[in-house]
Amino acid sequence: MSSILEQLRTRFDRSLVAAFGDDLAGTDPLIVPTNNPKFGDYQANVAMSLAKRLKQKPRDIAQQIIDRLEVSDLCEPPEIAGPGFINLRLKPQFLQSKLQQMYASDRLGVEPVEHPQKVIVDFSSPNIAKEMHVGHLRSTIVGDAIARVLEFQGHDVLRLNHVGDWGTQFGMLITYLREAYPDALTQPDALDIGDLVAFYKKAKVRFDEDAEFQTTARNTVVTLQSGDPETHQAWGLLCEQSRREFQKIYDRLDIKLTERGESFYNDLLPQVVEDLDKQGLLVEDQGAQCVFLEGYKNKEGNPQPLIIQKSDGGYNYATTDLAALRYRIREDGAKRIAYVVDAGQSTHFDQVFQVAKRAGLLPEDVEAVHVPFGLVQGEDGKKFKTRSGETVRLKDLLNEAIDRSRLDLEKRLEEEDRHENADFIEHVATVVGLSAVKYADLSQNRTSNYIFSYDKMLALQGNTAPYLLYAYVRVQGIGRKGNIDFQNLENVSIELRENSEFVLAKHLLSLPDILAEVAADLLPNRLCQYLFELSQKFNQFYDRCSVLQAEEPFRTSRLMLCDLSARTLKQGLSLLGIQVLERM
Ligand code: ARG
Repeated sequence: MSSILEQLRTRFDRSLVAAFGDDLAGTDPLIVPTNNPKFGDYQANVAMSLAKRLKQKPRDIAQQIIDRLEVSDLCEPPEIAGPGFINLRLKPQFLQSKLQQMYASDRLGVEPVEHPQKVIVDFSSPNIAKEMHVGHLRSTIVGDAIARVLEFQGHDVLRLNHVGDWGTQFGMLITYLREAYPDALTQPDALDIGDLVAFYKKAKVRFDEDAEFQTTARNTVVTLQSGDPETHQAWGLLCEQSRREFQKIYDRLDIKLTERGESFYNDLLPQVVEDLDKQGLLVEDQGAQCVFLEGYKNKEGNPQPLIIQKSDGGYNYATTDLAALRYRIREDGAKRIAYVVDAGQSTHFDQVFQVAKRAGLLPEDVEAVHVPFGLVQGEDGKKFKTRSGETVRLKDLLNEAIDRSRLDLEKRLEEEDRHENADFIEHVATVVGLSAVKYADLSQNRTSNYIFSYDKMLALQGNTAPYLLYAYVRVQGIGRKGNIDFQNLENVSIELRENSEFVLAKHLLSLPDILAEVAADLLPNRLCQYLFELSQKFNQFYDRCSVLQAEEPFRTSRLMLCDLSARTLKQGLSLLGIQVLERM
């Protein structure tokens, strides 16, 4: 079943062609939901946009469109308003039959896309031997939601974890550990990642202070990259320890990822240099191999180089990304690649994409996009830190969210004089705590910075995970109270009567359009907003309409609306990586 918007667009397309000829086929009719119910449900703004091209007044254009617009099965007769808006009001009969179809569909009326693509989502991507921080958490949560939405749309999604597992940090770390804790380099369990991070800091201090240490560290990188077995083994152990710690976080958050770190591309780096050279892009500058960038100038106003290979033969972060891009397009067959990485790396991606395009590594029919996100800030608006000024460890952050959610729950149980067993409390506290963290992040437009506040994210009111979970639980409560088997409701036809039912119905039916938008713009906050409004509209409906006490056919019809609301919430939340609760 195609969505309401799609149906309207098709009808407009036909009418535009009938009125103004084939030239206008495929013109976007610019249909958007109205923000005031007075004007109906949707408005089409196409008449205004065509005025110049057709050299006619928008209102006249609108008139010619609606004269040929065949929508009598979907809408009341369209009306022209203001300068030339075309207002559309859906017919109750049409809404009811659409809702019936949605109800009967496993996918809630969301059709898989006609042309599935091979999509790569590059997300999370922490650095080995450094602790995963809040920025990586944001990438992990946002990237996972984007991947889930694209998967649900029917795309073939490869989720790649481009971990920083190569490069200079290993030279420092291995050199330092060789003198300080040689066991760590030969025994699998000698360290945990907390130690590793501390060692990394110490190694960095040595590196910055001690010239001899610096030389040894640099040489170690070269030995590592040339495949020396002992250094390679030490490197492997360090990676393994980090990996185990990262995996714990992924498991808790239910994140699936394929690790393909920077080291994977090591052997492919010379090929990049060769490709760039063949295209005549490579220039030697002070011993380094560079590409001069278009549109980037240094302080002196000279063209700025992107260093591909350093004078010592080593490669850079950008070189690895060029190799990765090449591999993802040629070997994986990706048609769309989304890099969910903090906004601070915008320039990096812009430069990499530019060079890749100029070198023919990134063809026209492949879309590579940086999906940037802003900083996570503390409630004081500054960088998110612990009280003592340290970076917050993800483990601690998740634990704290769960602890606070447990306290809230215990308080609520006491107030309501409810008695629940320990398993229930643990389960609810965990789901609510983790959902709250995820949802707080996803519900913000990712491009802005966001303020991390446990109190706000755990609140039962507002645009929060607990509020949405509660709406779902409310429906399950109705089911328990009325002894309703939602899976086997008698199949009556849905009968809408009250205004709040219409409002809820229309909102439910816009799910496919919202998901299409999220898939296009990669903005999960659009889906959050949709689910938040769904919960509000459901609550309004339930406050105003009796359900269990209503007469038939309204009773069953309303139970169907309840069920549809719950299923839509469950599906939508699962696309955000959030699971629902039956009781809370
Ligand atoms: N490891 C990098 C960091 O922590 C992020 C990598 C993002 N992905 C990429 N293909 N560059 O900053």
